[in-house]
Amino acid sequence: MAALAGRRCLPWVWLRRRPGQGHGRHYRAALCTELKRPLAIEEVAPRPVQPHEVRVDVHFCGVNFADILACRGQYQEMAHLPFTPGMEFSGTVLETGTDVSTVKEGDRVIGVTGLNAMAEECITDQKSLWQVPEKVSLQEAAVLPVSYGTAILALDHRACTQPGETVLVTAAAGATGLAVIDVATNVLQAKVIAAAGSDEKCKLAMKRGAQYSVNYSQGSLKDAVKNLVGSGGVNVAIDMVGGDAFLEALRSLAWEGRIVVLGFAGGNIASIPSNLLLLKNICAMGLYWGRYKQQNFTVFSKSLSSALQYCQQGRIKPHVGATFKLEEVNDAFLHVIQRKSTGKVLLSLK
Ligand SMILES: NC(=O)c1ccc[n+]([C@@H]2O[C@H](COP(=O)([O-])OP(=O)(O)OC[C@H]3O[C@@H](n4cnc5c(N)ncnc54)[C@H](OP(=O)(O)O)[C@@H]3O)[C@@H](O)[C@H]2O)c1
Repeated sequence: MAALAGRRCLPWVWLRRRPGQGHGRHYRAALCTELKRPLAIEEVAPRPVQPHEVRVDVHFCGVNFADILACRGQYQEMAHLPFTPGMEFSGTVLETGTDVSTVKEGDRVIGVTGLNAMAEECITDQKSLWQVPEKVSLQEAAVLPVSYGTAILALDHRACTQPGETVLVTAAAGATGLAVIDVATNVLQAKVIAAAGSDEKCKLAMKRGAQYSVNYSQGSLKDAVKNLVGSGGVNVAIDMVGGDAFLEALRSLAWEGRIVVLGFAGGNIASIPSNLLLLKNICAMGLYWGRYKQQNFTVFSKSLSSALQYCQQGRIKPHVGATFKLEEVNDAFLHVIQRKSTGKVLLSLK
């Protein structure tokens, strides 16, 4: 079953240091030693790289909702304790294994790892790295993997969004939400209705390209969408909140509309009234972006190379809402849990 966001908050801050094993050079890493407890910062002894692996000097690491779920034991994929969370990063190559041919020392890269990225160094398979083009900063690049990879696959690969269509997106001012707005408007030439939980978030979504916005904390999302587009409805809905927000988004769809389930940030998984699918020839589908890495690497890799290319061309503009230091990782988690974050939250390792 898909993961749920729990409601318990972490204490404000709880950091500790303990010496790593071995001697010589060490690097710092965030460590989850116990589920639902604050992360610790530890000194870790580096291990040698395997022939196909690359050691990266991490500059920025994305803080994703999924990292928080993983540290609560509520993510789709359970990690064994203790572990270092962090599924995406940007940085420069420090060292390559003997069989590595795709990158060399000094190259600027982004990586998708699943775990281990919330650290000053990260070792990963060469297949999990993509070169960052010259015009793209490492800070911008760090925003791209999870949020833009997901937005691109949700809108294009799954929902087949067409120019001129209307897209409704929930949690629109969040990391993935703003990426959906950016890709839908600036790449796919669609119109976006942004749905978010405060007027301030709605304002940001409009500033980032949405044509309309709805504050769903103040009434029915479905009624608000109907007021904006009439009874015809929207062509595509991208939902990350679940529960009632999902059901209202489903009921806002037009004939042959498509709804893509991305997550359940609100904590509730809705059941789909299947008669609604029949009545308007609606298609309801899910997207688990990270799973494409195993199931269809070509599609996965293209979502990343497209994001990098759009960014280099200036067609998309990643938005960083807040940056925290590694030792502030628990504050960064709280910022997201308390719904204070907008756009991407990053850890800066430099
Ligand atoms: N399937 C995939 O491959 C995939 C990829 C990326 C993300 N996701 C999922 O998409 C969702 C958003 O991820 P993100 O990284 O973009 O997160 P984010 O930037 O932290 O956005 C989360 C937003 O969810 C909304 N929300 C609604 N109810 C909430 C609650 N009870 N607690 C916390 N937030 C709540 C909030 O926006 P409002 O205040 O505006 O409601 C919040 O800002 C998550 O569920 C994540 O797991 C899935």
